[in-house]
Amino acid sequence: MQDAAVIDGRSVADSVVETVKQAAEELKQQTGVIPGIAVVIVGEDPASKVYVASKGKKAKECGFHSVQHTLADSTSEADLLALVEELNDDPQIHGILVQLPLPGHIDDGRVIQAINPQKDVDGFHVINAGKLTTGEVETAFVPCTPAGSTLLIERVRGKDLSGLNAVVVGRSNIVGKPMASLLLAANATVTVAHSRTPDLPAACRNADILVAAVGRPEMIKGDWVKPGATIIDVGINRIAAPERGEGKTRLVGDVAYGECAKVAGAITPVPGGVGPMTIAMLMANTLVSAYRHAG
Ligand code: GUN
Repeated sequence: MQDAAVIDGRSVADSVVETVKQAAEELKQQTGVIPGIAVVIVGEDPASKVYVASKGKKAKECGFHSVQHTLADSTSEADLLALVEELNDDPQIHGILVQLPLPGHIDDGRVIQAINPQKDVDGFHVINAGKLTTGEVETAFVPCTPAGSTLLIERVRGKDLSGLNAVVVGRSNIVGKPMASLLLAANATVTVAHSRTPDLPAACRNADILVAAVGRPEMIKGDWVKPGATIIDVGINRIAAPERGEGKTRLVGDVAYGECAKVAGAITPVPGGVGPMTIAMLMANTLVSAYRHAG
């Protein structure tokens, strides 16, 4: 059997970013408003630093006003909440993103709920999560990774997933749950599987669309995949790669790519699949927020 088609997230993301860039320029010409995004990082998590730097770089590429707040690991929850309040009140800022995970002494939920829902371009606030589950997406912000994954699924399967079984592996608030809502909205029959699912391979074998978002390197095996399935690999895991030399590492997804690509119909690579889409959708959400604020 032929290997799966590779879903090129970089090229889809590039076209989203190009559209955002042009629309941002138009907004500026028509209203003088420049979309503004503030990214907040607390502590020294190396992966978070890389993600935050990419978000800032992409925002500048889109012509946005972009600020980064880098806070020490020892920052108190009260100080972080005060910064969020300041950004809520800043008319130049349309999108606020507090990079997760936060240090253990800070309550993630309290910080996220302090963000003005109309500036919550991550889509993590309960107001936005509620709007997504009730289908009120016109005024919501949809979380970036599931939104980007949905665009990639549309490329392969179209917008209407009626009659298709979708299995989401992982039940996080950031990816698994909003992904399930988006697949339901597209009429798929959706199963959310997780670490307590009794026979995970059997659940996965039922999937016409398989979304892996568990954070476990190469967990999904080739014999878990239904022939012809569309696989969206959300995982970004850094693992040791001694074959590249001592101390070297490489990125892998939650899917054992080589063996799954032999069975699937289409698959996202890691890197170059969902990752670039997440950042592109963050830019799209920030642009939308700027348009809404411009009235
Ligand atoms: N940490 C991992 N992914 C994300 C994301 O999409 N947004 C934020 N704020 N933190 C994250």
